[in-house]
Amino acid sequence: MLNQKHRQQYREEGYIVLDNFIDQDICRKLRQQAQHILDAFDPSGLYSIFSTHDQQADEYFLNSGEDIRCFFEEDAFDEHGQPRQEKHHSINKIGHALHDLDPVFAEFSRSAAIASLAGHVGFSDPRLLQSMYIFKQPGIGGEVVLHQDATFIYTQPQSVMGIWLAVEDASLENGCLQVMPGGHRWGLKQRFKRLPEGGTGFETIDKTPFPDIELKPLPAKAGTIVLLHGLLPHYSAANRSSRSRQAYTLHLIERQAAYPADNWLQRRTPPRGFDVMTGNH
Ligand code: FE2
Repeated sequence: MLNQKHRQQYREEGYIVLDNFIDQDICRKLRQQAQHILDAFDPSGLYSIFSTHDQQADEYFLNSGEDIRCFFEEDAFDEHGQPRQEKHHSINKIGHALHDLDPVFAEFSRSAAIASLAGHVGFSDPRLLQSMYIFKQPGIGGEVVLHQDATFIYTQPQSVMGIWLAVEDASLENGCLQVMPGGHRWGLKQRFKRLPEGGTGFETIDKTPFPDIELKPLPAKAGTIVLLHGLLPHYSAANRSSRSRQAYTLHLIERQAAYPADNWLQRRTPPRGFDVMTGNH
């Protein structure tokens, strides 16, 4: 589990890498379940293309906080709006409530191993707000520009932490995570939020650019967990290789922190905690 050195690294550098943290059998089970979700997904008539380059926040996206929805890669369609390849190879990710609604992802997300991580980095009453299964498809898996998760999951005070699981091996070739060590200490740059006139937009909080700290690639074998402080700038390159780079991410927030009504992700029911740890529902 986490030792003193890990906790110090989280405080000082904003991330922790835990190799071989999750069994290969569990990774395989999660991969299979993601495929089952795609099998059942009917894409006909749906052209909601998701990309962090162009946050077209349509209803499909905005209402996905308490649902399981599939989002296409930006390059999934040709110039006529027709899919270039079949759906299993066109989906960017599934979000955003796998941890609540899908039995396999729910069991994993609330397992004792995952629950223990939150306590180790100082959460007092963690809530599982959001989950995503990310495919990073071979050939078309898009770049995720440098960002802080707190931009998208804003709480007062800041409390979000990402738990990122390599479900498949991640390398520089297929777009592994890259982090800016220590960059979390420079504060939040912007907020992504719902606008009063409808739609979404970015609000600048601090217009000074990210510090000039070199990004550190984090190649990871399947089963590796990376913990990411909500203010840590991170990035992943496009996947132009022939191998996918599948990952599952969970985002936790502190129950006591204020959660603004103009955050993009809204729920009708409050996010639940780790039942195994707190008994809360
Ligand atoms: Fe992120």
